[in-house]
Amino acid sequence: MRTLWAAVLILGFASPAMAENIIPEMLKTYEAAGASHFDAKAGSALWHKKYAAPENAESPKPRSCQACHGVDLTKSGAHIRTGKVIEPMALSVNPQRFSEAKKMRKWFRRNCKWVMGRVCTAQEKGDILTYLQQQ
Ligand code: HEC
Repeated sequence: MRTLWAAVLILGFASPAMAENIIPEMLKTYEAAGASHFDAKAGSALWHKKYAAPENAESPKPRSCQACHGVDLTKSGAHIRTGKVIEPMALSVNPQRFSEAKKMRKWFRRNCKWVMGRVCTAQEKGDILTYLQQQ
């Protein structure tokens, strides 16, 4: 009986802090939208690619995902404009990552637009998440 209570207590305390990786679920929604065969290499290439800044941008510096998330994904990044700390993207050091669909959709939209000047396709998002999931 005592062990049962111990288990209940441990589970009760542990569950709010545990974040579930929703990447597999997101990949299914991208597949439903016509994407397939997600590829970490393609995702890595997109993540590291540098895009020219728009002509009217305040800074002419090329844009990339790394600009804010940093080169080493196991370390914190810094927002290129505000300097605000961005927690590491790598699931291996930050298990809170990729646990909320709404958050993911919002930042994918915003960041792809800022970096690439357009939203990412379902294939691109799937490739990027497949790459990020392995970090
Ligand atoms: C201008 C700065 C900036 C750039 C450039 C940027 N991001 Fe982000 N990104 C953020 C911020 C800020 C957040 C939200 C804070 C957080 O999650 O720690 C975020 C969050 C995310 C998330 C949500 C992660 C989660 O836990 O759900 C994804 C996915 C993401 N970014 C992908 C990208 C991709 C892909 C690129 C390149 C196309 C990119 N970001 C470029 C600033 C940036």
